[in-house]
Amino acid sequence: MIGFFDSGSGGLSVLAALRRRAPHADAVYFGDTLHAPYGERSGDALARLADAGLETLRMFGAQEIVAACNTVSPHVLGGSAHGARIIEMTGPAARSLSAHKGARVLLLATPATVLSGIYERALVGTVYLDSLPIPGLAGAIEWDESETVIRGILRRALLSRKGERYDIVILGCTHFPFVREMFEEETGAMFGSVRIVDPADAVAEAAVGAFSTYGSGRAYFYISQDSEPFRKRVERMFPYFSTTRVLQ
Ligand code: DGL
Repeated sequence: MIGFFDSGSGGLSVLAALRRRAPHADAVYFGDTLHAPYGERSGDALARLADAGLETLRMFGAQEIVAACNTVSPHVLGGSAHGARIIEMTGPAARSLSAHKGARVLLLATPATVLSGIYERALVGTVYLDSLPIPGLAGAIEWDESETVIRGILRRALLSRKGERYDIVILGCTHFPFVREMFEEETGAMFGSVRIVDPADAVAEAAVGAFSTYGSGRAYFYISQDSEPFRKRVERMFPYFSTTRVLQ
């Protein structure tokens, strides 16, 4: 059983990428909706939440875990895996960019991810990286704010890079692929033609290569506080497994 962990529904985009490649894999998903969003929390708080989230997944029988949240990556790499084998977002993402040596890359991510410097360390010597934190965007997506609100947050953030040129934009938060089209439109308008990279694909490839994907294709969803947007997203994305349980 493969466990998936995120602050909320962002990691569903990574689970979907895995299921496209391995439909028979059994999965258990934990979204920590009680504490979402994670992206503006301190390193200490994130370390504690990551620890608790991984332990929850282990309780449900996950021996192999995808930390489907860029924001907890630095803390998961620090070894809070409780004996489970773990794949996080940034290593596979960086490896997938090794074919683009010398490219000008813009990382869009939460403030905590940018502050941690984890992508800079992973990509050093490969690409020219510029990192742009976008406060409030993951939360707005998580709680299903209107398109106007979400687009406004994204556009205001991108304005700070007006006039720059990039070859690649990394969606460095697993919530962002839910509004991928908006990213394509807004980055296209601001920077011209630019390639969008969603690390979910590289992470799913890594998980299929390293984890056991033989099962009966079951999926279980747990959250730490009831959330209609989360339940709706599961129903839309995984119609055969639409039951979400709230942990007490
Ligand atoms: N989806 C997570 C990430 O990839 C966390 C976003 C948040 O909760 O702020 O960073």
